Amino acid sequence: MAGADYDLIAGLDRAKLPRHVAIIMDGNGRWASFHGLLRSAGHSAGVKTLKKILTTAVNLNLEALTVYAFSTENWKRPHAEVDFLMHLFSDYLEREKAEMHEKNVRLRFLGRLEAFSDGIRNQIRDATELMKNNTGVKFNIAANYGGQDEIVRAAQKLAKKVAAGEISPEDISAEIFESELDTAGQPPVDLVIRTSGEYRVSNFLLWQSAYAEFWFTDTTWPEFTPEEFVKALKDFGQRDRKFGALNK
Ligand code: IPE
Ligand code: IPE
Ligand code: MG
Repeated sequence: MAGADYDLIAGLDRAKLPRHVAIIMDGNGRWASFHGLLRSAGHSAGVKTLKKILTTAVNLNLEALTVYAFSTENWKRPHAEVDFLMHLFSDYLEREKAEMHEKNVRLRFLGRLEAFSDGIRNQIRDATELMKNNTGVKFNIAANYGGQDEIVRAAQKLAKKVAAGEISPEDISAEIFESELDTAGQPPVDLVIRTSGEYRVSNFLLWQSAYAEFWFTDTTWPEFTPEEFVKALKDFGQRDRKFGALNK
């Protein structure tokens, strides 16, 4: 483990860690503008932050980390920016997959992947296949992901099963529904972190974050650090979660 991370983690009560942390990595563009750079430079800087945060998650042995990389609404951005982000994904997977595998990370993609080029889909398939038996951090990248779209896709899958006579409508429970989501088999989200001072969900993990705690910071994603990540985790450890019940 890197020395800096080791010091950080030293004061952390592991029993109070969230099982599943989800991050809305926001503010790349604003960080770039502030520094007189192109938005694309902000996205590249954001990838460096992601690498550090994933390393911290591995060092902490978090059960699951989900990051929002590209929403179903992000196609509305200028073509050049979307194109840059696609190249960035491709480079990221190419550069990082061996190290992720070495760190025992289990990679999964959430979202509607059909929209990506054949090249990127192949890279996603190869990387997920490579890591499919890994037992460390479950690392989910939400790409062309929308919470509503995910719920609609799950409903369609169940409707097909009903139409085929495999299940009856009454069989559909919250558990069955969950088993058709992209996060099937993973724990619900305990903590959502959003950077860059926006206080909204932007169609992220709508089902999975039903009882999540939220942590917001004005720090932009390129400036976000493992120290601040650990601060959010410590803050989570102080929260009083009730899940609709009363305090004991
Ligand atoms: C988040 O940063 C990255 C993506 C949405 C792909 P933004 O690009 O949204 O940065 P801001 O919000 O414009 O600063
Ligand atoms: C959410 O950020 C999506 C990602 C971080 C990938 P956006 O920047 O797209 O969200 P809005 O448009 O500000 O709500
Ligand atoms: Mg944004």
